[in-house]
Amino acid sequence: MKIVVIGGTGLIGSKTVAILRQSGHEVVAASPQGGVNTITGEGVKEAVAGAQVVIDLANSPSFEDKAVLEFFEASERNLIPAEAAAGVRHHVALSIVAIDRTDNGYFRAKVAQEKLIVASGIPYTIIRSTQFMEFLGGIADSSADGNIVRLPPILFQPIAADDVAATVADVALGPPRHGIVEIAGPERAPFNTIIGRYLKAVGDKREVVSDPGARYWGGPVEERSLVPLGDARLGRVGLDEWLRRSQARA
Ligand SMILES: NC(=O)c1ccc[n+]([C@@H]2O[C@H](COP(=O)([O-])OP(=O)(O)OC[C@H]3O[C@@H](n4cnc5c(N)ncnc54)[C@H](OP(=O)(O)O)[C@@H]3O)[C@@H](O)[C@H]2O)c1
Repeated sequence: MKIVVIGGTGLIGSKTVAILRQSGHEVVAASPQGGVNTITGEGVKEAVAGAQVVIDLANSPSFEDKAVLEFFEASERNLIPAEAAAGVRHHVALSIVAIDRTDNGYFRAKVAQEKLIVASGIPYTIIRSTQFMEFLGGIADSSADGNIVRLPPILFQPIAADDVAATVADVALGPPRHGIVEIAGPERAPFNTIIGRYLKAVGDKREVVSDPGARYWGGPVEERSLVPLGDARLGRVGLDEWLRRSQARA
């Protein structure tokens, strides 16, 4: 089966491409560095021609509110007609848990992306994941005020990129769900505890403080704003195991 992975060179994309190639599929890892750009449309038609499945794992180079919204909207607007013309039978996209009940600029852009997919007429599955463990450092940096990392007192359930990629590959090889599948890490704990464990493990001396006034990427959050409310598929790699693996790789 021909499978195109848009963003196939990224964190989740490269892992997904490797898993799918190992199961013997013809996989195109599409990205601007390989001449496929979903914003300009360059190479998109050619890449998806003959594909049964397209997996969209692209991400915006800028997280600024307007830029990220334009990225996901333009990207789907170029992909959808190309996929329709090619007769693609399954469009899989990676989104984020709680984007429609938690407000920030990045989440609004993902909501816009999901809406275009649902309205596209192409059979689809949207996978909503919690935050990647690989993103914990970025979250700490975005919440830092000098040597203090201020986090809202909410629940957090990050997932390892390896678990995300395994689910993406599995979903892509199955039938379209015409709906959403949620995935999360195996461990749910207070935000400050998880970021504190991460910083300690990587030798980052910044102090983590639980602050009810702190926001998440500029938006207000409550206790369950970032975790699945219903049943979610759980990853297998816990934070300690992920830290061990990352340190072994370093
Ligand atoms: N971070 C999280 O915690 C989290 C949680 C849930 C869901 N997600 C979602 O997961 C998805 C993948 O994230 P990631 O961290 O794996 O991304 P990433 O590592 O930043 O990789 C981004 C990929 O997008 C490609 N790309 C950038 N501009 C493009 C364009 N104009 N046309 C085609 N491809 C383009 C990049 O290609 P180049 O290498 O050529 O630049 C790269 O392959 C994103 O949609 C994100 O919203 C993230």
